[in-house]
Amino acid sequence: MADINLPEIRDTLVSLAFEAGRTILAANPSATSADTKLNAVDIVTETDKAVEVLISSRLSTLYPSFSFIGEETYVKGVTTVTDAPTFIVDPIDGTQNFVHGFPHACISLGFAVEKIPSVGVVYNPFLDILYTGVRGQGSYMQRNASEGSNAKEPQRLPLNGGKGKLNKLCNSLVAFEGGSQRDGENFEIKMRAFRNLLESGKGMVGGFRSLGSAALNICGVAAGQLDLYWEGGCYAWDVAAGWCILNEAGGKMFGGNPGVWEPELDSRKYLAVRGATEGQKEIVEEFWGLLGGEEMVYEH
Ligand code: IPD
Repeated sequence: MADINLPEIRDTLVSLAFEAGRTILAANPSATSADTKLNAVDIVTETDKAVEVLISSRLSTLYPSFSFIGEETYVKGVTTVTDAPTFIVDPIDGTQNFVHGFPHACISLGFAVEKIPSVGVVYNPFLDILYTGVRGQGSYMQRNASEGSNAKEPQRLPLNGGKGKLNKLCNSLVAFEGGSQRDGENFEIKMRAFRNLLESGKGMVGGFRSLGSAALNICGVAAGQLDLYWEGGCYAWDVAAGWCILNEAGGKMFGGNPGVWEPELDSRKYLAVRGATEGQKEIVEEFWGLLGGEEMVYEH
């Protein structure tokens, strides 16, 4: 790790994110053909594939000795996250949003060393908002990010220096996602959890949101705009970049299943919690308590 220049990698990923962002903005998703993967709602467009080719080819030229994992070239049961320095990339996180022109989709570019998220760049080209994080060096959000001299000053995360204590779930703004798997035991567990989180007399979260992009949900938690984000079923490329940004903002990633305090990067079950002066452990335990001891199980 000592001889890897993480800020230089961040700068490379930022310029790649802007280039990919221009490709995404130039695409006409209604005229772009979309294939399906797991089922009819798990879609991939030509633009997802083109952006991944752009990013992987640039990174393999610049950093030939580093590994690369991308959503569109992942092979089930074969692609694994190892200890090697690895770029972990989702070319478009929020593909459903992209296809519908709902402006919450991003390029998610993570870099992990020994499976520790060490650089994160998440860029929403529709809103021109950039999130970056470098291990040990803080994380930032920048508006009008691609506009050169008109770009706003990067703001250190969490915004406004953080909001202090985390209270109970009923005072919290919580994000969770349906995900693309819409059947089976994991789906049933999620549906029971959604009910417990929303129902009066149980968690009754103050508000719940689904941005439709795991990376943007995590960045919202890093910024302190959301208190928590929970999901089972997403992959390392959905979370790697945001995870670094979250850590550097004083937040923490816990496991999506009860009792998992230090989740693996590729565990596919995550609970992101914003930075707080106190109450992190308590709200995680309150959240896990609503899962009724049930555990989601996902293959890699
Ligand atoms: C999806 C989004 C979505 C989450 C899914 C992811 P994609 O990524 O992050 O919010 O619920 O689990 O697969 O398919 O748009 O790259």
